[in-house]
Amino acid sequence: MTPSTSIPKANASLSSLANVVQCFSTRYGSTPELVVSSPGRINLIGEHTDYNLGYVLPAAIDKYIHVAIRKRADQQLTIFAADLNSTYQGAIGNWEKSPLQWPDYLLGVLKELEGETGTIPGLDICFGGDIPAGAGLSSSAAIECGLARAVNDLLGLKLTKIQLVQLAQAAENRFVGVQCGIMDQFASMFGMKDKAILLDCRSLKYEYIPLELNQYAILLLDSQVKHQLAGSAYNVRREQCDMGVKALRKVYPHVNSLRDANRAMIEYTLKDRIPDLVYNRCKYVVEENLRLQVGCEALRRNDLVSFGKKMFASHVGLSKLYEVSCPELDYLVDLARLEHAIIGARMMGGGFGGCTINLIRKAFINEVVDRIQESYFQKFGNSPTPIVCQLSNGTTTISS
Ligand code: GLA
Repeated sequence: MTPSTSIPKANASLSSLANVVQCFSTRYGSTPELVVSSPGRINLIGEHTDYNLGYVLPAAIDKYIHVAIRKRADQQLTIFAADLNSTYQGAIGNWEKSPLQWPDYLLGVLKELEGETGTIPGLDICFGGDIPAGAGLSSSAAIECGLARAVNDLLGLKLTKIQLVQLAQAAENRFVGVQCGIMDQFASMFGMKDKAILLDCRSLKYEYIPLELNQYAILLLDSQVKHQLAGSAYNVRREQCDMGVKALRKVYPHVNSLRDANRAMIEYTLKDRIPDLVYNRCKYVVEENLRLQVGCEALRRNDLVSFGKKMFASHVGLSKLYEVSCPELDYLVDLARLEHAIIGARMMGGGFGGCTINLIRKAFINEVVDRIQESYFQKFGNSPTPIVCQLSNGTTTISS
C-alpha cells in the first residue's frame, strides 16, 4: 500500500462543470440553455432524526452534480449521465422506472414537476459531477435538486426553494421508493459557505450556524462499502420508529412523532410495551436529538472539542441501538478514537457503508490518514478514500 503524501483531492476522473457542458455540446450539438450546480452534503450530527421530525445539522460541501439542460420542440426526453457514459431515452409522461436505475432520480423529479405544473416540454439533459455515488454524500439529492432547479428556471416556474426541496424529496419517496426524510435535499438546496444548517424538520425553520474550524478540518473517510441495502433497511427503521410512536400514543395521545417523546417516556412507558429492538431505535432517536441540541450549544461557544465528543457518542448510538453501521465504519471510528488529532468521528448518513466524518487538526491530516489507511488495509484488504471538504453554497444556477 502506498501511503498518501498530500491532502487528497476529489476524484479527478469524475466530471467538472466544464466537462458536463462539453459533454452536453458533443452529445446534443449545441450549448445548454442553462446549467445548475447542486452540492452534496455532510451531516455533523442528528442522524435518522429528520423523518422523526427532529433536528439535523447538515451542510452543503464543495462536491457537486452539474445539470445542463435545454428544451425540445417535441415531447422526447434524453438524459446523458456523463460519468457513467450511459443514455436514457423516453418521453415526457411515460413515467416508468428504468432498469438502469440511475434515471429514476431524474424521472421522479420530472414526474413531480409535471404534476405541479400540468405539463412540461421535452428535454435534453446531461449531468455529472464529483460526488462519489454510494458514499453517503447524497449525490442523489444533488441530482434531484439540480434538475428541479434547472427545470424551474428554464421554464420560469417560480417555485420557491422549499417547494423544490419538497418536490425533490417526494420524487425519492414516491418514484424511487426510499422513504427518506428532508435533510439531504434541504442541505443541497439551502447550503451556505462556511455554515452548517440547524434545521427543525417539524417546522422547517432553520438557522445557519457558522462553523469556525480554525486549526481543524472536516475529513471524510469513504469506507468504499456501497450502501445498496440501505433502501430497504432504511424503510424498516422508519417502520420501527412508527411502532414506537403508536405505543407511546396509547399513553400520551399528543405524541405524533418521536420528536414529541422524551427520555422518561422511553424508559418508563415504552420499555415494557414494545420489543427491545423498537425500544432501542426510539431511545437512540430521542438521545440523538438531545445530543444535537447540546452539540449546537458547544458550536455556538466554538467549543469543537465538546462537539466532537457528541459525535463519538452519536456513533455508539447509531451502531449499537439503531444498528445502521457496519464493521468497516465501526473500525474507522475505533481507529479515529486512537488519534489525538481527531476530536470527533462518527458514521454519516443513512449508514451500512459510505463515509465517516472526522473533526481533525489540519496539521496532522496526512500522517493520520496514512496510519488509518494502513490499519484498515491490514483488516479489510483495501483502503478508505480520504476527502477533505469545505462547506459551500447550495444549488446555484450558473448560466442562463
Ligand atoms: C439518508 C436520508 C436522509 C436521512 C439520513 C439519515 O441520507 O436520505 O433523509 O434520514 O439518511 O440521517
